[in-house]
Amino acid sequence: MTDLTAMNRFVDRIAVITGAGSGIGAATSRRFASEGASVVVADIDDDAAASVVEQIEASGGDAWASHCDVSSTADWKALAEAVETRHGRVDVVHNNAFTRVFGAAHELAEADWEHQISVNLSSVYRSVRAFMPALRASKGCIVNTASVRAVLGFPGDAAYTASKGGMLALTRQLAVEYGPEVRVNAVLPGPILTPSWNGADDSVVDLHARSTAAGRVGSPDEVAAAVCFLASADASYITGASLAVDGGFMAKKDPS
Ligand SMILES: NC(=O)c1ccc[n+]([C@@H]2O[C@H](COP(=O)([O-])OP(=O)(O)OC[C@H]3O[C@@H](n4cnc5c(N)ncnc54)[C@H](O)[C@@H]3O)[C@@H](O)[C@H]2O)c1
Repeated sequence: MTDLTAMNRFVDRIAVITGAGSGIGAATSRRFASEGASVVVADIDDDAAASVVEQIEASGGDAWASHCDVSSTADWKALAEAVETRHGRVDVVHNNAFTRVFGAAHELAEADWEHQISVNLSSVYRSVRAFMPALRASKGCIVNTASVRAVLGFPGDAAYTASKGGMLALTRQLAVEYGPEVRVNAVLPGPILTPSWNGADDSVVDLHARSTAAGRVGSPDEVAAAVCFLASADASYITGASLAVDGGFMAKKDPS
């Protein structure tokens, strides 16, 4: 485990994280806070967000919770105004919230298609509308949580896969549009054991573990480390990039 006391990369920095009440977003919130950032824990689940804030405060960090449904332009506007009032700046926006309804394209209800595109992809556009002026002023950055599914097709997952592929294209586009002031990157997690896996059969977890070169599923902390690296000065010459955090899932063709 990394000695986090040795790293203070985000002192006086403000990090806004969506879907921060659980899994990867919660781990990223804790990691940013442990490295000195003030963290805005944004989620639709207010209890979950409050609990992450409690954990951060109990460890001596600084965080506050904000209700934000990333599919709502009004919520993004309110979030940006609250961050401006409280901190007067923002340095990192981590677009991480997601929703998923499985289904092949010909079976998926149009409302389910539209909602997944809105939560998983259009949310990034909304984040830019809400925060780009402040990010430009601070020479900040955006980190998007995409997925290995941005570049690989899987049966029965049409809208999620399309939304993550779109997120990757938008990551490159935003990097070009808003460089050199603002860097924009994406992480591509592979199988990461989070509450989104609740109810998954052991055999499914095992199949995913065997589909990686690492021979195991990953932890949310391992994605958080990559997100914080991309947001840090250590990644000052990295923009428009996608970093797989997948234990070699994309490098390995078959489970064995
Ligand atoms: N866990 C994995 O194996 C895996 C793999 C690849 C990519 N990812 C990506 O990682 C990210 C986080 O996934 P996770 O596994 O940590 O999920 P999770 O289910 O543990 O957490 C997701 C959080 O998002 C919140 N959320 C849902 N809809 C929202 C909305 N409209 N507005 C704001 N918040 C909302 C939920 O309340 C929850 O707290 C997602 O973007 C997901 O696509 C995860």
